[in-house]
Amino acid sequence: MKHNPLSTLIIRIILIINILSEYEGVKIRKLELPMAVHNGTGPIELMCIYQIDKNEHGLVVKWYHNMEQIYQWIPPMSPQDSGIISGFTEYPERNINRPFSHSIIHLRQVNFSMTGDYTCSVSTFSEHSVETKKMTIYIPNHQLQIFANTYNDTHINLTCIAKGARPRPSLSIIINDERLEDRNIRVENYRKYPWIRQETIVTDFIKPVIVQCEINIPGTGYRKRDKLLYYQNSMHR
Ligand SMILES: *[C@@H]1O[C@H](CO)[C@@H](O)[C@H](O)[C@H]1NC(C)=O
Ligand SMILES: *[C@@H]1O[C@H](CO)[C@@H](O)[C@H](O)[C@H]1NC(C)=O
Ligand SMILES: *[C@@H]1O[C@H](CO)[C@@H](O)[C@H](O)[C@H]1NC(C)=O
Ligand SMILES: *[C@@H]1O[C@H](CO)[C@@H](O)[C@H](O)[C@H]1NC(C)=O
Repeated sequence: MKHNPLSTLIIRIILIINILSEYEGVKIRKLELPMAVHNGTGPIELMCIYQIDKNEHGLVVKWYHNMEQIYQWIPPMSPQDSGIISGFTEYPERNINRPFSHSIIHLRQVNFSMTGDYTCSVSTFSEHSVETKKMTIYIPNHQLQIFANTYNDTHINLTCIAKGARPRPSLSIIINDERLEDRNIRVENYRKYPWIRQETIVTDFIKPVIVQCEINIPGTGYRKRDKLLYYQNSMHR
């Protein structure tokens, strides 16, 4: 194949253009916040780590909670916060001494209304970078119980009830090691009165079985079980 100097030159130019367009004057490298936090606990830190080209000017870092602005930092001034995090924050020197790479919100305690999407936005006069991550504040159940009752001569009624967990959990009933598919879940106005009930009618068991109910709070990894040993016409917890 003949080597064409013109095509080599074109390839060179394309490569240079590619390198230039990958120039990023501002780039968020990492957004670090806990995925799930128990309501009322703390402290936690929301951390936005970025890099800024030394030729960039006019740095402004902002944080948003579900699109609502909760923080603004224009170094060397101090960070200003508002909304749901206001009154919960601290800015010790170690957290604000790296304005060109770290924006850190230290929260003494979390509050239930802090669940949501957190967006860190870093901009200069000419460049902009944005990242978003979700954090869920949860409240564990204060009750979780599985019941087995006679339904008729051949069937039993397994009912699991959970109260108090937020955000709205899911329940599943497990017999020995087999998980029943979700059926007959009852929830009424979970926001106001957080309880959830799952009921299933199954053929009575001849041999003893272990019946469990598992609660899961989505997005948190929180799970718990209540268990009973069932044998025909009797129940042992
Ligand atoms: C969350 O925790 C705070 C602080 O302990 C408490 O005052 C508040 O009632 C809790 N929220 C809910 C919905 O339980
Ligand atoms: C969260 O804290 C604010 C005060 O900053 C308070 O008004 C609100 O009731 C709290 N929310 C919950 C669910 O505890
Ligand atoms: C008990 O209820 C189940 C489910 O509704 C039904 O399939 C079954 O025939 C009933 N058994 C008797 C003895 O009525
Ligand atoms: C099943 O048992 C629960 C109580 O454990 C009861 O509230 C519910 O009404 C029962 N369901 C049926 C279909 O009998």
